Amino acid sequence: MSGAKFSKNILCIGAGYVGGPTMAVIAAKCPQYKVTVVDINAARINAWNSDNLPIYEPGLLDVVKQARGRNLFFSTDVDSAIKEAQIIFVSVNTPTKTFGEGAGKAADLQYWELTARNIVKVASSDKIIIEKSTLPVKTAEAMGRILNANEKGIKFEVLSNPEFLAEGTAIEDLERPDRVLIGSQLTPEGIKARDEVVEIYANWVPGEKILTSNIWSSELSKLVANAFLAQRISSINSISALCEKTDANVSEVSRAIGMDTRIGSKFLSSSVGFGGSCFQKDILNLVYICQSYGLTEVADYWERVVLMNEYQKRRFVQNMLKVMFNTVAGKRIALFGFAFKADTGDTRESPAIDVAKQLIEEHAKVVITDPQALHNAKIDLADYADKIEFAADPYEAAKGAHAIAVMTEWKEYKTLDYKRIFSSMERPSFIFDGRNILNHEELFKTGFNVFPLGQPNHKHF
Ligand code: UDX
Ligand code: UDX
Repeated sequence: MSGAKFSKNILCIGAGYVGGPTMAVIAAKCPQYKVTVVDINAARINAWNSDNLPIYEPGLLDVVKQARGRNLFFSTDVDSAIKEAQIIFVSVNTPTKTFGEGAGKAADLQYWELTARNIVKVASSDKIIIEKSTLPVKTAEAMGRILNANEKGIKFEVLSNPEFLAEGTAIEDLERPDRVLIGSQLTPEGIKARDEVVEIYANWVPGEKILTSNIWSSELSKLVANAFLAQRISSINSISALCEKTDANVSEVSRAIGMDTRIGSKFLSSSVGFGGSCFQKDILNLVYICQSYGLTEVADYWERVVLMNEYQKRRFVQNMLKVMFNTVAGKRIALFGFAFKADTGDTRESPAIDVAKQLIEEHAKVVITDPQALHNAKIDLADYADKIEFAADPYEAAKGAHAIAVMTEWKEYKTLDYKRIFSSMERPSFIFDGRNILNHEELFKTGFNVFPLGQPNHKHF
């Protein structure tokens, strides 16, 4: 046993996008703690133990290497790790339910509950259990009941400590968070457990940024933070549609409103739509909770944020069709980017998935390029394998294409040799910039017909 060597034994169950980076940063910042990350997926654990990590995140490998083997361990031996730990973060996935009551909206808690039951089964001492996955309000209470219904006399204190990191900037967000939120029961035991978790973060996060609250506020804050962020994107995307009708420029509007300090300038970039594993799932979860309390107006209000996002993705493809003479059948269309945002290989809920599927339905020949996400793209589009091409090199992807559609704001797409690309494409050549990252006037001068989002287009006909 490693017992005395470390002052705390911390475990995380679930070595995903959240669990892996979060624990790596805790271990790197706190060499006095033993941090173990377990997962039922052996391939994932093997990857965490190699230099070829299972997720792409700038700076992550350095942080992992700093601590791995010293006080950071990745393992599939879930039961031994549970026995040894005093503090257990649970970061297993909580997807939207696909079946039964609440299908399409409610969170599927089966992995969470199985994990809780397994903890009860193998534990032989008191433990602090921390919700790291995003969960519906009051889950902690339910989990507390399952955990504490044991006959061994073991006490479990359930806390909520939502993760606010964004992919692509996970390490920065973890090292310098805007805030850390820890929710607990306000009983003496709850407060004692909370203080233990505060102590972990206090190793590197300034005290005034560590917030504590009751457990339900903490659970709800995570959903609400994501709902507000997504709402800003849907709001500006709704305005992009209006800009296209009125010759206003959505980037100018964003800039003008963002300088009002009450509004703020972040999260006002119009796009082909928001993606990622959290926004849609968390809003639908919020909608479901509101509906279950009979708050129909509140539920409908938030659901519009998701519906607007669906509209934006549909609108993007409809616009491509209209501009390309009402047909894309047989036309080669290169999607530049497939990840849901830059600097990640993650494609969960990526707007590119919907765009690709719609184009395939229109019988376009879709070719996809992305610096990090081709592996995931192939999995997402496995059902359409015979209708899609994948090309690591964007120049290859664009060769012979009628159109390029920018799906992800990878910075390498800004500096490609578009003259070379233009010379290899069919005429007329189109660019649809779903992220407004390219130099539209330059492209127009090169010969492209350019269709940004929410900005005047530049066309030669
Ligand atoms: C997860 C949740 O999906 C999300 O709700 C929450 O906001 C943060 O935590 P993420 O880390 O992105 O997000 O999920 P994912 O990458 O799918 O990782 C979850 C891991 O848990 C997987 O590697 C899976 O194998 C593992 N797992 C799942 C277990 O180890 N045990 C289980 O019983 C179920
Ligand atoms: C989000 C939250 O930001 C994070 O706090 C939470 O923990 C998890 O969910 P993430 O999904 O990783 O993080 O990425 P985020 O940067 O929020 O982007 C989400 C989506 O919105 C992406 O598809 C992104 O391209 C899009 N987006 C973002 C826009 O379309 N416009 C913007 O102005 C900002």
